[in-house]
Amino acid sequence: MDILGIETSCDETAASVVRRHPDGSGEILSDVVLSQLDLHSDFGGVVPELAARSHVSTLDRLVIQALEESSVPLADVDAVAVTSGPGLIGGLMVGLMTAKAIAMAAGKPFIGINHLEGHALTARLTDNVAFPYLLLLVSGGHTQIVLVKGVGEYERWGTTIDDALGEAFDKTAKLLGLGYPGGPAVEQAALAGEPKHFRLPVPMRRDPRLDFSFSGLKTAVRQMAEEQAPLSQQTIADLCLAFQTSVTSSIDDRIAMALDRFNERFGTESKPALVVAGGVAANKAIRATLENRASKAGFRFIAPPLNLCTDNAVMIAWAGAERLAAGLPADELSLAPRSRWPLDQTATAVIGHGKRGAKA
Ligand code: KG4
Ligand code: ZN
Repeated sequence: MDILGIETSCDETAASVVRRHPDGSGEILSDVVLSQLDLHSDFGGVVPELAARSHVSTLDRLVIQALEESSVPLADVDAVAVTSGPGLIGGLMVGLMTAKAIAMAAGKPFIGINHLEGHALTARLTDNVAFPYLLLLVSGGHTQIVLVKGVGEYERWGTTIDDALGEAFDKTAKLLGLGYPGGPAVEQAALAGEPKHFRLPVPMRRDPRLDFSFSGLKTAVRQMAEEQAPLSQQTIADLCLAFQTSVTSSIDDRIAMALDRFNERFGTESKPALVVAGGVAANKAIRATLENRASKAGFRFIAPPLNLCTDNAVMIAWAGAERLAAGLPADELSLAPRSRWPLDQTATAVIGHGKRGAKA
């Protein structure tokens, strides 16, 4: 089964062709991603209108490139899958209209994919992970612990009650005068930090709800920065390290509780997997902490390669393939984009919209 995937929900324009073999394994035939980072960096965040316009002007070229590189002619593609939410509505519309036009013109099934489902299922493509498994999704727009039970079957166990983790990194970087995106800048600066200089609280420690909170931490960094002004390079490094340490401890605490809960329900005999996804998964301190915690609890730790952790169309094509293989139906061409679309339909929304769109 060969699926064409399209992703335009935020600031990456992407197209890909992915093959799913009858034994359930996958093969990436092409993976084209155009990042809009330069377009938005002056603004310190994604500007939705600029993002949508850029998707319009580049997407058709990227789709052609993805098809050419895969050597699969459009006539041989089995379905067209596209992110139909959650995300920035202008970008979603561009992807949806393009995918619908291609599906209609070529007479192919059309599938709208939940972007979060794309992130959630990637580990099955890269590492053949079996259900059920636990997912930590940490990006600029999302911070969630999700139980992945099967294709289309998700339980959200925890989410952020304010900022997404990537967003907290970005805001912290901004207030310390570091560049955008802030995550890599904060991680880099923290390398030179003195561990004992500042100590910040660990948000949500031991809270039984498994949720996250980062906005208080960001405020604490701001207050410390104001007290220390003017900031030396060393003080900035010390503050970055304190922030990263506190964030890492909070994640460790939340994930330790989630793994315990998983164990109580499913046991560890089958050596289940803890999977991490999203741009923040690039952070080495966070990765190391998760790896350590997973091994202590008897879990395998799976982190897909970085280019598949951040936004891409491979995961959208793959989710389309998984859905078709599971016997789930394709969509009507009248399908509408959804700025907010929780993976777990039963989970209540705890926060509103952020800079990168709905956070749900
Ligand atoms: O998944 P992603 O590429 O885009 C979406 O949010 O959809 O994630 C981007 C986020 C940004 O907030 C960025 O600051 C953060 O991931 N990030 C990092 C690191 N690299 C990227 N955060 C912490 N440490 C990093 N090394
Ligand atoms: Zn994403």
